[in-house]
Amino acid sequence: MSAVAMTSSQNASQHRAAALDAEIERDPAAFRTLTGDRPTGALHVGHYFGSLQNRIRLQDAGVEVLVVIADYQAITDRTAQSQLSDVVTGLLADYLAVGIDPRRATIFTHSHVASLNQLLLPFLSLVSVAEIRRNPTVKSEVTAAGLATMSGLMFTYPVHQAADILFCHANLVPVGLDQLPHLELARTIARRFNDRYSIGAPYFRQPEALLSAAPVLLGTDGQKMSKSRNNSIPLRATADQTALLLGKAKTDSERFISYEPERRPEVAGLVMLTALCRGCTPQEIADEIGGRGSAALKAAAIEAVNERFTPLRARRRDLAVDPGFLRDVLADGNERANAIADETLRTVRVLMHQEY
Ligand code: TRP
Repeated sequence: MSAVAMTSSQNASQHRAAALDAEIERDPAAFRTLTGDRPTGALHVGHYFGSLQNRIRLQDAGVEVLVVIADYQAITDRTAQSQLSDVVTGLLADYLAVGIDPRRATIFTHSHVASLNQLLLPFLSLVSVAEIRRNPTVKSEVTAAGLATMSGLMFTYPVHQAADILFCHANLVPVGLDQLPHLELARTIARRFNDRYSIGAPYFRQPEALLSAAPVLLGTDGQKMSKSRNNSIPLRATADQTALLLGKAKTDSERFISYEPERRPEVAGLVMLTALCRGCTPQEIADEIGGRGSAALKAAAIEAVNERFTPLRARRRDLAVDPGFLRDVLADGNERANAIADETLRTVRVLMHQEY
Protein backbone atom coordinates (compact mmCIF):
# COMPACT_ATOMS: atom_id res chain seq x y z
CA MET A 1 0.00 0.00 0.00
CA SER A 2 1.35 3.43 -0.80
CA ALA A 3 1.78 6.12 1.84
CA VAL A 4 -1.18 7.97 0.34
CA ALA A 5 -3.50 4.96 0.44
CA MET A 6 -2.44 4.27 4.01
CA THR A 7 -3.37 7.81 4.96
CA SER A 8 -6.91 7.58 3.67
CA SER A 9 -7.72 4.29 5.39
CA GLN A 10 -6.00 5.62 8.48
CA ASN A 11 -8.19 8.72 8.48
CA ALA A 12 -11.32 6.69 7.98
CA SER A 13 -10.38 4.44 10.90
CA GLN A 14 -9.63 7.35 13.17
CA HIS A 15 -12.90 8.95 12.26
CA ARG A 16 -14.76 5.73 12.93
CA ALA A 17 -13.12 5.28 16.36
CA ALA A 18 -15.13 8.13 17.87
CA ALA A 19 -18.41 6.77 16.50
CA LEU A 20 -17.54 3.28 17.70
CA ASP A 21 -16.86 4.52 21.21
CA ALA A 22 -20.40 5.85 21.42
CA GLU A 23 -21.84 2.57 20.12
CA ILE A 24 -19.77 0.55 22.59
CA GLU A 25 -21.02 2.63 25.47
CA ARG A 26 -24.61 2.17 24.34
CA ASP A 27 -24.45 -1.57 23.72
CA PRO A 28 -21.23 -3.31 24.78
CA ALA A 29 -22.78 -6.76 24.34
CA ALA A 30 -23.00 -6.15 20.57
CA PHE A 31 -19.21 -6.30 20.36
CA ARG A 32 -16.64 -9.03 20.62
CA THR A 33 -13.02 -8.02 20.57
CA LEU A 34 -9.98 -10.00 19.55
CA THR A 35 -6.40 -8.76 19.73
CA GLY A 36 -3.07 -10.30 20.40
CA ASP A 37 0.66 -10.07 20.65
CA ARG A 38 3.59 -12.09 19.46
CA PRO A 39 5.40 -13.74 22.34
CA THR A 40 8.79 -12.25 21.51
CA GLY A 41 9.61 -10.48 24.77
CA ALA A 42 8.35 -8.44 27.68
CA LEU A 43 5.49 -5.98 27.18
CA HIS A 44 6.65 -2.39 27.62
CA VAL A 45 5.18 0.98 28.52
CA GLY A 46 4.54 1.71 24.82
CA HIS A 47 2.24 -1.33 24.66
CA TYR A 48 0.57 -0.17 27.83
CA PHE A 49 -0.45 3.25 26.57
CA GLY A 50 -0.88 2.16 22.94
CA SER A 51 -3.01 -0.96 23.31
CA LEU A 52 -3.26 -2.60 26.74
CA GLN A 53 -5.16 0.31 28.27
CA ASN A 54 -7.59 0.12 25.37
CA ARG A 55 -8.24 -3.59 26.03
CA ILE A 56 -8.88 -2.97 29.72
CA ARG A 57 -11.21 -0.12 28.84
CA LEU A 58 -13.23 -2.37 26.51
CA GLN A 59 -13.29 -5.21 29.03
CA ASP A 60 -14.48 -2.90 31.78
CA ALA A 61 -17.13 -1.43 29.50
CA GLY A 62 -18.59 -4.94 29.20
CA VAL A 63 -17.23 -5.98 25.79
CA GLU A 64 -16.15 -9.62 25.52
CA VAL A 65 -12.39 -9.71 25.03
CA LEU A 66 -10.26 -12.49 23.51
CA VAL A 67 -6.49 -12.23 23.44
CA VAL A 68 -4.28 -14.46 21.32
CA ILE A 69 -0.70 -15.11 22.31
CA ALA A 70 0.41 -15.49 18.71
CA ASP A 71 2.98 -18.25 19.08
CA TYR A 72 2.74 -19.25 15.41
CA GLN A 73 3.43 -15.65 14.38
CA ALA A 74 6.45 -15.59 16.65
CA ILE A 75 8.12 -18.17 14.41
CA THR A 76 7.78 -16.13 11.22
CA ASP A 77 11.01 -14.21 11.60
CA ARG A 78 13.05 -16.21 14.05
CA THR A 79 14.10 -19.77 14.35
CA ALA A 80 12.94 -21.84 17.32
CA GLN A 81 13.24 -19.89 20.51
CA SER A 82 14.32 -22.16 23.34
CA GLN A 83 12.90 -19.61 25.77
CA LEU A 84 9.46 -19.60 24.13
CA SER A 85 7.54 -21.14 27.01
CA ASP A 86 9.01 -18.64 29.49
CA VAL A 87 8.20 -15.78 27.15
CA VAL A 88 4.59 -17.00 26.82
CA THR A 89 4.10 -17.31 30.59
CA GLY A 90 5.79 -13.93 31.07
CA LEU A 91 3.41 -12.33 28.57
CA LEU A 92 0.45 -13.90 30.32
CA ALA A 93 1.66 -12.52 33.67
CA ASP A 94 2.00 -9.08 32.05
CA TYR A 95 -1.61 -9.30 30.81
CA LEU A 96 -2.98 -10.23 34.20
CA ALA A 97 -0.87 -7.61 35.98
CA VAL A 98 -2.21 -4.80 33.78
CA GLY A 99 -5.76 -5.87 34.56
CA ILE A 100 -6.96 -8.31 31.92
CA ASP A 101 -9.33 -10.41 33.98
CA PRO A 102 -9.15 -14.12 33.10
CA ARG A 103 -12.65 -14.72 34.47
CA ARG A 104 -14.07 -12.42 31.81
CA ALA A 105 -11.42 -12.49 29.07
CA THR A 106 -10.20 -15.50 27.08
CA ILE A 107 -6.43 -15.70 26.68
CA PHE A 108 -5.18 -18.46 24.38
CA THR A 109 -2.26 -19.59 22.20
CA HIS A 110 -2.35 -20.48 18.48
CA SER A 111 -0.53 -23.76 19.02
CA HIS A 112 -3.30 -25.15 21.22
CA VAL A 113 -6.34 -24.30 19.12
CA ALA A 114 -6.22 -26.70 16.20
CA SER A 115 -9.50 -25.73 14.52
CA LEU A 116 -8.43 -22.09 14.31
CA ASN A 117 -5.31 -23.13 12.44
CA GLN A 118 -7.29 -25.34 10.08
CA LEU A 119 -9.27 -22.32 8.89
CA LEU A 120 -6.06 -21.13 7.27
CA LEU A 121 -6.55 -23.62 4.41
CA PRO A 122 -9.95 -22.51 3.11
CA PHE A 123 -8.93 -18.89 3.72
CA LEU A 124 -5.77 -19.29 1.65
CA SER A 125 -7.94 -20.37 -1.26
CA LEU A 126 -9.75 -17.04 -1.15
CA VAL A 127 -6.75 -14.77 -1.75
CA SER A 128 -4.25 -14.47 -4.56
CA VAL A 129 -0.49 -14.58 -4.25
CA ALA A 130 -0.38 -11.07 -5.75
CA GLU A 131 -2.65 -9.74 -3.01
CA ILE A 132 -0.53 -11.28 -0.29
CA ARG A 133 2.62 -9.95 -1.93
CA ARG A 134 1.32 -6.38 -1.78
CA ASN A 135 1.04 -6.34 2.03
CA PRO A 136 3.23 -3.42 3.17
CA THR A 137 3.51 -4.58 6.79
CA VAL A 138 4.94 -7.96 5.83
CA LYS A 139 7.42 -6.23 3.51
CA SER A 140 8.66 -3.90 6.21
CA GLU A 141 8.90 -6.70 8.76
CA VAL A 142 11.02 -8.75 6.39
CA THR A 143 13.31 -5.75 5.86
CA ALA A 144 13.43 -4.87 9.57
CA ALA A 145 14.32 -8.43 10.54
CA GLY A 146 17.05 -8.46 7.86
CA LEU A 147 15.81 -11.81 6.57
CA ALA A 148 17.70 -13.23 3.60
CA THR A 149 14.77 -15.44 2.69
CA MET A 150 11.08 -15.26 3.51
CA SER A 151 9.37 -18.37 4.86
CA GLY A 152 5.99 -19.46 3.56
CA LEU A 153 4.55 -18.75 6.98
CA MET A 154 5.91 -15.20 7.01
CA PHE A 155 4.39 -14.69 3.55
CA THR A 156 0.96 -15.95 4.59
CA TYR A 157 0.74 -14.89 8.22
CA PRO A 158 -1.81 -12.12 7.52
CA VAL A 159 -4.17 -14.85 6.26
CA HIS A 160 -3.56 -16.79 9.46
CA GLN A 161 -4.27 -13.59 11.36
CA ALA A 162 -7.60 -13.39 9.55
CA ALA A 163 -8.36 -16.81 11.06
CA ASP A 164 -7.53 -15.38 14.54
CA ILE A 165 -10.14 -12.72 14.00
CA LEU A 166 -12.81 -14.65 12.13
CA PHE A 167 -12.80 -17.92 14.07
CA CYS A 168 -14.43 -16.17 17.01
CA HIS A 169 -16.55 -13.76 14.94
CA ALA A 170 -14.83 -10.76 16.47
CA ASN A 171 -16.24 -7.51 15.14
CA LEU A 172 -13.87 -5.12 16.89
CA VAL A 173 -10.10 -5.34 16.60
CA PRO A 174 -8.06 -2.78 18.54
CA VAL A 175 -4.83 -2.36 16.59
CA GLY A 176 -2.05 0.01 15.66
CA LEU A 177 -1.72 1.56 12.21
CA ASP A 178 0.68 -1.12 10.97
CA GLN A 179 -2.05 -3.75 11.37
CA LEU A 180 -4.65 -2.01 9.18
CA PRO A 181 -3.64 -3.89 5.99
CA HIS A 182 -4.13 -7.20 7.86
CA LEU A 183 -7.54 -6.12 9.00
CA GLU A 184 -8.51 -5.17 5.47
CA LEU A 185 -7.49 -8.65 4.36
CA ALA A 186 -9.61 -10.25 7.10
CA ARG A 187 -12.58 -8.22 5.85
CA THR A 188 -11.92 -9.33 2.28
CA ILE A 189 -11.70 -12.97 3.31
CA ALA A 190 -14.95 -12.74 5.30
CA ARG A 191 -16.71 -11.15 2.32
CA ARG A 192 -15.38 -13.66 -0.21
CA PHE A 193 -16.21 -16.62 2.01
CA ASN A 194 -19.76 -15.34 2.40
CA ASP A 195 -20.10 -14.69 -1.34
CA ARG A 196 -18.89 -18.14 -2.19
CA TYR A 197 -20.32 -20.33 0.55
CA SER A 198 -23.13 -18.58 2.39
CA ILE A 199 -24.96 -16.38 -0.09
CA GLY A 200 -27.97 -14.60 1.37
CA ALA A 201 -27.04 -15.46 4.97
CA PRO A 202 -23.51 -14.15 5.52
CA TYR A 203 -21.72 -16.41 8.00
CA PHE A 204 -18.67 -14.31 8.88
CA ARG A 205 -19.19 -10.76 10.01
CA GLN A 206 -16.98 -7.87 9.01
CA PRO A 207 -14.41 -7.01 11.67
CA GLU A 208 -13.64 -3.35 12.25
CA ALA A 209 -10.40 -1.76 13.40
CA LEU A 210 -10.38 0.33 16.55
CA LEU A 211 -7.38 2.61 16.41
CA SER A 212 -5.88 3.69 19.69
CA ALA A 213 -6.11 7.40 20.42
CA ALA A 214 -2.75 7.33 22.23
CA PRO A 215 0.24 8.67 20.31
CA VAL A 216 3.06 6.33 19.33
CA LEU A 217 5.48 6.31 22.23
CA LEU A 218 9.12 6.77 21.38
CA GLY A 219 11.84 4.66 22.95
CA THR A 220 15.04 5.73 24.67
CA ASP A 221 16.70 6.33 21.28
CA GLY A 222 13.97 8.60 19.89
CA GLN A 223 12.59 5.86 17.59
CA LYS A 224 9.33 3.95 17.97
CA MET A 225 9.46 1.93 21.20
CA SER A 226 9.81 -1.71 20.25
CA LYS A 227 10.73 -5.00 21.88
CA SER A 228 13.22 -5.72 19.14
CA ARG A 229 14.96 -2.32 19.09
CA ASN A 230 16.29 -2.51 22.63
CA ASN A 231 14.91 0.92 23.39
CA SER A 232 11.95 0.04 25.58
CA ILE A 233 11.04 0.25 29.26
CA PRO A 234 9.51 -3.14 30.14
CA LEU A 235 6.44 -2.97 32.34
CA ARG A 236 8.05 -5.52 34.62
CA ALA A 237 11.33 -3.59 35.04
CA THR A 238 12.26 -2.73 38.63
CA ALA A 239 12.54 0.89 39.75
CA ASP A 240 16.34 0.62 39.51
CA GLN A 241 16.26 -0.89 36.03
CA THR A 242 13.90 1.88 34.95
CA ALA A 243 16.30 4.51 36.28
CA LEU A 244 19.17 2.87 34.43
CA LEU A 245 17.30 2.61 31.11
CA LEU A 246 15.93 6.14 31.19
CA GLY A 247 19.23 7.50 32.49
CA LYS A 248 20.81 6.30 29.24
CA ALA A 249 18.08 7.77 27.05
CA LYS A 250 19.25 10.03 24.21
CA THR A 251 18.56 13.74 24.48
CA ASP A 252 20.03 16.75 22.69
CA SER A 253 22.29 19.66 23.62
CA GLU A 254 19.61 22.33 24.04
CA ARG A 255 19.16 23.28 27.67
CA PHE A 256 15.59 24.54 27.54
CA ILE A 257 13.07 21.69 27.47
CA SER A 258 10.28 22.03 24.90
CA TYR A 259 7.78 19.66 23.34
CA GLU A 260 8.62 19.58 19.62
CA PRO A 261 8.15 16.02 18.35
CA GLU A 262 9.36 16.80 14.81
CA ARG A 263 12.46 18.77 15.68
CA ARG A 264 13.43 17.14 18.99
CA PRO A 265 12.09 13.54 18.93
CA GLU A 266 14.28 12.25 21.78
CA VAL A 267 13.31 14.99 24.22
CA ALA A 268 9.68 14.87 23.06
CA GLY A 269 9.62 11.11 23.76
CA LEU A 270 10.67 11.62 27.38
CA VAL A 271 8.22 14.49 27.79
CA MET A 272 5.36 12.39 26.37
CA LEU A 273 6.22 9.38 28.53
CA THR A 274 6.19 11.55 31.65
CA ALA A 275 2.92 13.17 30.61
CA LEU A 276 1.19 9.84 29.90
CA CYS A 277 2.30 8.40 33.25
CA ARG A 278 1.08 11.46 35.13
CA GLY A 279 -2.09 11.93 33.08
CA CYS A 280 -1.31 15.45 31.95
CA THR A 281 -0.32 17.13 28.67
CA PRO A 282 3.22 17.14 27.27
CA GLN A 283 3.14 20.93 27.24
CA GLU A 284 2.61 20.99 31.00
CA ILE A 285 5.65 18.78 31.53
CA ALA A 286 7.81 20.88 29.20
CA ASP A 287 6.76 24.07 31.04
CA GLU A 288 7.47 22.48 34.40
CA ILE A 289 11.02 21.42 33.49
CA GLY A 290 11.81 24.50 31.39
CA GLY A 291 15.42 25.61 31.80
CA ARG A 292 16.37 22.82 34.20
CA GLY A 293 17.52 20.73 31.27
CA SER A 294 17.54 17.10 30.30
CA ALA A 295 18.87 15.75 33.60
CA ALA A 296 15.79 17.14 35.34
CA LEU A 297 13.58 15.77 32.55
CA LYS A 298 15.05 12.29 32.95
CA ALA A 299 14.60 12.43 36.72
CA ALA A 300 10.96 13.42 36.22
CA ALA A 301 10.43 10.61 33.70
CA ILE A 302 11.96 8.01 36.02
CA GLU A 303 9.83 9.12 38.93
CA ALA A 304 6.66 9.23 36.83
CA VAL A 305 7.16 5.74 35.35
CA ASN A 306 8.04 4.21 38.70
CA GLU A 307 5.08 5.82 40.38
CA ARG A 308 2.61 4.87 37.74
CA PHE A 309 3.68 1.24 37.51
CA THR A 310 4.43 0.38 41.16
CA PRO A 311 1.08 -1.39 41.81
CA LEU A 312 1.22 -3.24 38.49
CA ARG A 313 4.77 -4.40 39.19
CA ALA A 314 3.80 -5.65 42.64
CA ARG A 315 0.91 -7.65 41.15
CA ARG A 316 3.23 -9.08 38.55
CA ARG A 317 5.76 -10.21 41.15
CA ASP A 318 3.00 -12.07 43.00
CA LEU A 319 1.90 -13.77 39.78
CA ALA A 320 5.42 -14.78 38.82
CA VAL A 321 5.77 -16.92 41.93
CA ASP A 322 2.63 -18.89 41.06
CA PRO A 323 3.33 -20.71 37.77
CA GLY A 324 0.57 -23.23 38.51
CA PHE A 325 -2.00 -20.46 38.46
CA LEU A 326 -0.68 -19.10 35.17
CA ARG A 327 -0.80 -22.58 33.63
CA ASP A 328 -4.40 -23.00 34.77
CA VAL A 329 -5.41 -19.62 33.30
CA LEU A 330 -3.94 -20.54 29.93
CA ALA A 331 -5.42 -24.05 29.95
CA ASP A 332 -8.80 -22.54 30.70
CA GLY A 333 -8.45 -19.90 27.95
CA ASN A 334 -7.35 -22.53 25.44
CA GLU A 335 -10.31 -24.70 26.34
CA ARG A 336 -12.75 -21.85 25.74
CA ALA A 337 -11.06 -20.88 22.47
CA ASN A 338 -11.19 -24.51 21.31
CA ALA A 339 -14.92 -24.70 21.97
CA ILE A 340 -15.49 -21.61 19.81
CA ALA A 341 -13.10 -22.70 17.06
CA ASP A 342 -14.53 -26.24 16.87
CA GLU A 343 -18.01 -24.84 16.45
CA THR A 344 -16.85 -22.46 13.70
CA LEU A 345 -15.01 -25.19 11.83
CA ARG A 346 -18.06 -27.45 12.08
CA THR A 347 -20.20 -24.78 10.42
CA VAL A 348 -17.53 -24.01 7.83
CA ARG A 349 -17.48 -27.70 6.83
CA VAL A 350 -21.24 -27.67 6.44
CA LEU A 351 -21.16 -24.50 4.33
CA MET A 352 -18.36 -25.90 2.18
CA HIS A 353 -20.25 -29.17 1.59
CA GLN A 354 -17.60 -31.15 3.41
CA GLU A 355 -19.82 -33.16 5.71
CA TYR A 356 -19.19 -36.81 5.03
N1 TRP B 1 0.28 -9.17 14.31
C1 TRP B 1 0.07 -8.62 15.62
C2 TRP B 1 1.34 -7.91 16.06
O1 TRP B 1 2.41 -8.19 15.54
C3 TRP B 1 -0.31 -9.67 16.65
C4 TRP B 1 -1.60 -10.38 16.32
C5 TRP B 1 -1.74 -11.71 16.06
C6 TRP B 1 -2.90 -9.80 16.19
N2 TRP B 1 -3.01 -12.01 15.79
C7 TRP B 1 -3.77 -10.88 15.87
C8 TRP B 1 -3.41 -8.51 16.31
C9 TRP B 1 -5.12 -10.66 15.63
C10 TRP B 1 -4.78 -8.31 16.09
C11 TRP B 1 -5.62 -9.38 15.76
O2 TRP B 1 1.27 -7.08 16.94
